[in-house]
Amino acid sequence: MSLTRFQKSILNWYHKNGRKNLPWQQNISAYSVWISEIMLQQTQVVTVIPYYERFMSSFPTVRDLAEATQDVVMEHWAGLGYYSRARNLHQTAKMIISEFQGIFPSEMDDLVKLPGIGRTTAGAIKSLAFNQRGPILDGNVKRVLSRYHKIEGWSGSSKTNQTLWFYADKHTPNTHVREYTQAIMDIGATVCKKNNPCCTSCPIHEKCKAFMENEVLSYPAKRPHKKIQERSCYFLIIKDKNSNIFLEKNRHKGIWQDLWLFPKCNDLEDMEQICASRGLKIKTFEILERQTHTFSHFKLLYTPIIIEVSVKEQLGNNSQDSVWYTSNNKLKLGVPAPVKLLLNTAGKMLIFNEVQNG
Ligand code: ADE
Repeated sequence: MSLTRFQKSILNWYHKNGRKNLPWQQNISAYSVWISEIMLQQTQVVTVIPYYERFMSSFPTVRDLAEATQDVVMEHWAGLGYYSRARNLHQTAKMIISEFQGIFPSEMDDLVKLPGIGRTTAGAIKSLAFNQRGPILDGNVKRVLSRYHKIEGWSGSSKTNQTLWFYADKHTPNTHVREYTQAIMDIGATVCKKNNPCCTSCPIHEKCKAFMENEVLSYPAKRPHKKIQERSCYFLIIKDKNSNIFLEKNRHKGIWQDLWLFPKCNDLEDMEQICASRGLKIKTFEILERQTHTFSHFKLLYTPIIIEVSVKEQLGNNSQDSVWYTSNNKLKLGVPAPVKLLLNTAGKMLIFNEVQNG
């Protein structure tokens, strides 16, 4: 079947302007496409590049990833956010070894059964890695199609989503799928931008409904407004006489599952009990200024408290789920961004105080 005008315009644009030098576009494999696509969900290309390079150098094959410990995988993700992505990557790598003899599947039905691989990531793997037809609908493609066809409604609603998938499928060619897929994502990222679209550089602007009607910025419709919830807590930065800091592995389901955190509490009154139950006795404490960490759907207001303790019983050291972190050892632990920040600043502050106090 021959190519449509839409497809030809997109492909011509790609040959002249498409991105061809991104790290995941070199030595393309299903594994490298998968890792990059998961990292690129909700994260910008510039942020992803160093993470991708470090990840691929530590885990060059799906087997290396499957055989790594969870802590090492989480440590490679620390700072990228949306940590379920890293847990799913690890899980999927293990399944590819155990269920697919280490060979990445290329069938849609197999791909979408793997943890963390939905329809669009499966489409990207099929098209970018295997050059087989596989429509995709990531945020960039949604924006291009919403404008081109003036698709009403928020893409999170099922009707709008269905319409978007209908067009994504309709426009995907049977040949040149790798170039087409990369091109439509690149057009969304570099031309059909959210705020400053460069419509006259766009290869399909002449038939773009939103452009023709001068309504480009009204598409895609925004998510209906939802008040961002706030939660607050205290982070207990517990240090011993040598300025080692107590961390625990978070086993609770949720955003920071399997990452290492400071013990937390909602009420100051609980601080003593939390320390006592870990065999620690409070000597002094200092409450620091409250800080904010914003997630996609809520804000965490956290107040760090630096607590100096004496260790009554060595409960912590015997447990796999707690550790005394020292700023000069090479503990490889996955910690979320606010904890990393506090470990750096608190670590320096504690050492500085000690020098000052002799
Ligand atoms: N965003 C999602 N996938 C991408 C890719 N392969 N290249 C650049 N940006 C992307």
